[in-house]
Amino acid sequence: MLYIGIDLGTSAVKLLLMDGEGAIKNVVSKEYPLEFPQPGWSQQAPEDWRRAVLEGIPELLNGFDAGQVAGIGAGGQMHGLVVLDRDDNVIRPAILWNDGRTAKEVDYLNNVVGKEKLSKLTANIAFAGFTAPKILWMKANEQELFAKIDKIMLPKDYINYVLTGVHCTDYSDASGMLLLDVEHKCWSGEMLELCGVTEAQMPRLFESYEAVGTLKPEIAKELGLPESVVVCAGAGDNAAAAVGTGTVGEGACNISLGTSGTIFISSEKFGVDHNNALHAFAHADGNYHLMGCMLSAASCNKWLMEDIFRTQDYAGEQQDITPDKLGNNHVYFLPYLMGERSPINDTNARGTFTGLTMDTSRSDLTQAVLEGVTFAIRDCFEVAKSLGIHIRRSKICGGGAKSPLWKTMMANILNIQLEVPASEQGPGMGGAMLAMVACGLYPTVEDACKKLVSTAETVSPDPGLAARYEERYQQFKQLYPALKGTFANLNG
Ligand code: XUL
Repeated sequence: MLYIGIDLGTSAVKLLLMDGEGAIKNVVSKEYPLEFPQPGWSQQAPEDWRRAVLEGIPELLNGFDAGQVAGIGAGGQMHGLVVLDRDDNVIRPAILWNDGRTAKEVDYLNNVVGKEKLSKLTANIAFAGFTAPKILWMKANEQELFAKIDKIMLPKDYINYVLTGVHCTDYSDASGMLLLDVEHKCWSGEMLELCGVTEAQMPRLFESYEAVGTLKPEIAKELGLPESVVVCAGAGDNAAAAVGTGTVGEGACNISLGTSGTIFISSEKFGVDHNNALHAFAHADGNYHLMGCMLSAASCNKWLMEDIFRTQDYAGEQQDITPDKLGNNHVYFLPYLMGERSPINDTNARGTFTGLTMDTSRSDLTQAVLEGVTFAIRDCFEVAKSLGIHIRRSKICGGGAKSPLWKTMMANILNIQLEVPASEQGPGMGGAMLAMVACGLYPTVEDACKKLVSTAETVSPDPGLAARYEERYQQFKQLYPALKGTFANLNG
């Protein structure tokens, strides 16, 4: 049988067709636009996701026996607020995970309602990208539209709704709404009330690997698929990527270098970072995880390459960064192009280059960007260390993980071993694997991981280079605290 994995990302949807033994038969990618209507705002049209998925699936199946497709599973960009009216019309563009418009609402939630109370109710505090502050923002700024809300959902839930007609979500994605009691896996009545919404407007909760339904007849016809195709609840993209890289069980770690950068630590028990710098979320395997998320990771490199250097030749730009240059760069980059989430939680933070001199070259800037993102991942890693979590090895995935240079930097800046999975398809592969569990092909997510995920390459740190990078990291660490006040002043 065949399974479709959907990775509903920020720049594109990636669709993947896989058999039950893990062989990837086909991959199709469809891009869609991202709007930045004001500095720090980020939104997207759910109708574009819908169109991309509905056009992409027939392309994915071209040349294959569609009758063999048994299940579909999605991993999606997290936290985005999707709102529908009672006729299922999308009320406004989805406000995305990297949107920073909710500084006022975050301040209200964290400082008036209080971090302690939020953490008690949801295991987390408010961050600008989370869904609850966006609901409050709509309530304050778009009263007429707010009054029309009949259904609230997250990006991949909208796709599941289009496919099945079932208004559902899963615990991993719902964790990032700041409306879920993560420990007990139910909506927090108090949080819903605080945001002025009711449980009737919220999606039904499922485990990621549970079936939510089958294809609506008209959708099955449009896609050329049997109506019996099972759609599973799916997961937030980070939990789905963790499944796709085999990051399940106690203490396993995955680093994702995508548009965002995340460090994902899976756990068999529920646990909270007492400072709430790391998110405490449910995992797609039925357990829990801690996660640090930086808002701009591979997107910083994309910005430098495509918007500033006007090139697509990423590998060519990295060619001059020879081994002797590693750990010796005099330029530093703060990667806060969209503000920052973990661990500093500062919507005012901005990107900077520091340490430029007359002999700074183009490749020094590229190196500084790759290193700056990696140092910022190290900031999250340090929080995990402070909680007594000692990570010695991690999987790595996402577009940035295609660069051998970036993987070397990551292994040495974190001073850990990196395991590169044989398949690059993180969230899409995780989605397909969750569908396999929903269809009964594997009894658990862990079983599916054991059978389907393997390591292609291991990258080990070099003690001399790790020591040089340690010195550089200590310098990097001083930059944000020195600039924090300036960032706030610059943003009025
Ligand atoms: C996680 C987060 C991002 C998005 C990216 O909390 O906001 O990783 O899920 O798609």
